[in-house]
Amino acid sequence: MSIRVVELFAGVGGFRLGLEQASSEFDVVWSNQWEPSTKKQHASLVYESRWPNANHTNANIEEIVERDFDQIPDHDLLVGGFPCQDYSVATTLRNSKGLRGKKGVLWWSIEAILRKKGNDCPKYLMLENVDRLLKSPATQRGRDFAIILSSLNALGYAVEWRVINAAEYGMPQRRRRIFILGYHRSTEIYKQIKAAKTEWLTKTGVVATEFPVKETNQKPFTDKIDSDLKKVSEEFNKEGKLSPFQNTGLMIDGQFWTLKTESDFKGEEKVLEEVLVPNSEVPKEFFINKAELKSWEFQKGAKKIERTNSSGHTYSYAEGGMNFPDPLDKPSRTIITGEGGKTPSRFKHVVLKDSKYRRLVPKELERLNMFPDDHTQLDGITDQKRAFFMGNALVVGIVEKLGKGLVRELGKTENEKKG
Ligand SMILES: C[S@@+](CC[C@H](N)C(=O)[O-])C[C@H]1O[C@@H](n2cnc3c(N)ncnc32)[C@H](O)[C@@H]1O
Repeated sequence: MSIRVVELFAGVGGFRLGLEQASSEFDVVWSNQWEPSTKKQHASLVYESRWPNANHTNANIEEIVERDFDQIPDHDLLVGGFPCQDYSVATTLRNSKGLRGKKGVLWWSIEAILRKKGNDCPKYLMLENVDRLLKSPATQRGRDFAIILSSLNALGYAVEWRVINAAEYGMPQRRRRIFILGYHRSTEIYKQIKAAKTEWLTKTGVVATEFPVKETNQKPFTDKIDSDLKKVSEEFNKEGKLSPFQNTGLMIDGQFWTLKTESDFKGEEKVLEEVLVPNSEVPKEFFINKAELKSWEFQKGAKKIERTNSSGHTYSYAEGGMNFPDPLDKPSRTIITGEGGKTPSRFKHVVLKDSKYRRLVPKELERLNMFPDDHTQLDGITDQKRAFFMGNALVVGIVEKLGKGLVRELGKTENEKKG
């Protein structure tokens, strides 16, 4: 059973790493990565140096889909963390332009690939995004996700989703992301989901077996997803209510069920201290001296600042204090794309190790995402870029577990077919 994989929005290959660690059955036959704002394509350079001669492409996926579609080979599994600039934690929900925003429209490239492949469409999907996708945009909470569900339903997929915080399953970073798995109606798994319904979500499914949740007697909320995309887009939750979508859910044949679940992990917790390299391996620009410390303390501290907006209106902006330095005995906070560089910032990690304050080196950031050490090291790629890659990437251990879950389920269904 070889599973041909296409990796979209590949960055530095987090999905590929996870799947290759999960099983040798996964075979990445084509990948794509293109950074819109830069001339030098740093992430693709890293990708190609780690997987030389792989069928990797460095071009705008929207253009490939439109003008050169035939170069995308047939495949069984489509994976990708589609860009999330419009609704990532770095911005506020109100700024969010959602799927109809400039960058968010890349969802439609995924949709177009599935549609244009027709009968040869991939049987399985594994997508990742920020958890705010479930609630955006602020004016019609949940609309963007409803659009995704409605279009996948039209294409013949059942969908399960779960917001997974890596730290709640023994991984070293608190990184909360939504994972969306799709199963085409031509598959055995689709039939199983149809029979199992919500049991699939809490007990028997691919996600539930790899990421167990506590027993609950909550009744899932259920509703229909409209098949008219335009209607969903214009009318979904216009009354301004909360999003109906909880952290766990399933959609099949146009009906969805959703409920709130909590992790039931019994293994060991991984903490920030475990990823640290000895100070002797840390270049001196990562250390923070006494004079610089004041500025870091200010950034991390509670404060009230007067700000003036573009129309000249002055307002007062308040923010609470952060843990400073970052606690070593807990999983780390989320890495964001601005993690690199010397300029003091609230969001960058600072540790106190052997009485010295310092920022995290790229290898430590890679470890927080469970990438192999120095995966992103390459001549001409700065430490700041390496930090940026990790802010964009995912926790490889999550994909590895999902990959294992999928292979196990496929093995089961193949045996059932034989038997
Ligand atoms: C959230 S990141 C995914 C990171 C990846 N999962 C990893 O492990 O590194 C999204 C990626 O999509 C890329 N991207 C943005 N617009 C694109 C486009 N039009 N075509 C192809 N890739 C694009 C970005 O450069 C970024 O690397």
